[in-house]
Amino acid sequence: MHSKNSPQRAPSKLFTLNLLIKSFILLIVLGTGFYVLIMYKPQYIDLHSMAMRTISMTWSSNCADERTSLQRWIAPPSNLTHSMTDEELFWRASFVPQVNKYPYNRISKVAFMFLTKGPMPLAPLWEKFFKGNEGKYSIYVHALPDYQPDFPRWSVFYRRQIPSQVAEWGKMSMCDAERRLLANALLDVDNERFVLLSESCIPLHNFSTVYGYLVHSKHSFVGAFDDPGPHGRGRYNHNMAPEVNVSQWRKGAQWFEMDRNLAVFLIHDTKYYPKFKDFCRPPCYVDEHYFPTMLAIELPHLLSNRSLTSVDWSRGGAHPATFGGRDVTEGFLKRLVGRHSCMYNDQPAAVCFLFARKFSPSALEPLLQFAPILLGYGS
Ligand SMILES: *[C@@H]1O[C@H](CO)[C@@H](O)[C@H](O)[C@H]1NC(C)=O
Ligand SMILES: *[C@@H]1O[C@H](CO)[C@@H](O)[C@H](O)[C@H]1NC(C)=O
Ligand SMILES: *[C@@H]1O[C@H](CO)[C@@H](O)[C@H](O)[C@H]1NC(C)=O
Ligand SMILES: *[C@@H]1O[C@H](CO)[C@@H](O)[C@H](O)[C@H]1NC(C)=O
Repeated sequence: MHSKNSPQRAPSKLFTLNLLIKSFILLIVLGTGFYVLIMYKPQYIDLHSMAMRTISMTWSSNCADERTSLQRWIAPPSNLTHSMTDEELFWRASFVPQVNKYPYNRISKVAFMFLTKGPMPLAPLWEKFFKGNEGKYSIYVHALPDYQPDFPRWSVFYRRQIPSQVAEWGKMSMCDAERRLLANALLDVDNERFVLLSESCIPLHNFSTVYGYLVHSKHSFVGAFDDPGPHGRGRYNHNMAPEVNVSQWRKGAQWFEMDRNLAVFLIHDTKYYPKFKDFCRPPCYVDEHYFPTMLAIELPHLLSNRSLTSVDWSRGGAHPATFGGRDVTEGFLKRLVGRHSCMYNDQPAAVCFLFARKFSPSALEPLLQFAPILLGYGS
């Protein structure tokens, strides 16, 4: 580049020398002053924080749009696939805001977490249940790691699979899978309630009933009872003391529903986890004891002590009854959905179950047929 030089008079040699000496003296005075300051008051000169402030000022002026930068923290992950280990994921998911008031219009979402082997034969029923309620739910699916889902693009289950590992019934790997679902769902700050479901579960009411019931509940729906028999206290191992003693031992169905505080509590537990991992092994089915016992010890006032998922144990045996196409009649569904009696927010209530299991693939057709009249969705 060429600059237009205005004619300049060369300064005299004496003037240059004079300037040089003056600058030298000024430099010495300033340098000494700076030295003295650092020696006696080092806290005044925090070069590191000065540098950081300069960097962060540069950064924030580059991201001047405040909404965009808050968006960074509240936008849910767009891709549920990630390469974090469980340890890394649980650490990240345990971040909790300390400011209770959200600085934006937060709409609480319900996280529906499906613990499956792979296929979801009742998906068409769930699609009908969710339809029209976008923005109020999010879906997470834990399947066997090598399962390749093939949901179409329009499906609510499309790309909702989380990185998974093998989960075996009655073993700690089952609780690990449940915690993995919770941790992935916690990454979305708008998820407030967390429901664990299986591929054989169905919703018994329309979405708005289920949503209202959950987001307005004071309690989390974790079954926890003291069973004195061989399948309850009989599974207690004395090596669990002093963290857990036999009178604190609880049993409850695996299928829980909980709020965000409890979900964070479950994923950061390191006190009870090793005890249950080492001393509750089949025939102690850890998924029936770990969460109920730990939560009943630590946060009993937050528990409803009942499950929201209806299940039929009347046939006896180790597994509850499975309902097929021929079982699903009008009378059967009316009994399932009909009035029960329980406590909700410390008041007597008639709606006690929001979900039911176990339904086989052959139940899909009659369920789709009866859902609009008897379950309130899918018309
Ligand atoms: C999601 O992330 C995974 C790895 O993190 C990547 O392999 C995959 O292509 C991503 N999918 C989409 C649709 O962006
Ligand atoms: C859902 O069901 C409840 C109770 O049956 C009913 O009052 C409500 O109108 C239904 N909501 C919708 C959106 O269908
Ligand atoms: C179990 O622990 C509870 C609470 O710490 C205590 O009150 C109770 O006495 C203990 N029971 C036994 C059998 O040690
Ligand atoms: C559930 O049981 C615990 C004791 O384990 C109790 O403190 C709590 O109040 C019970 N919850 C309700 C809703 O009754």
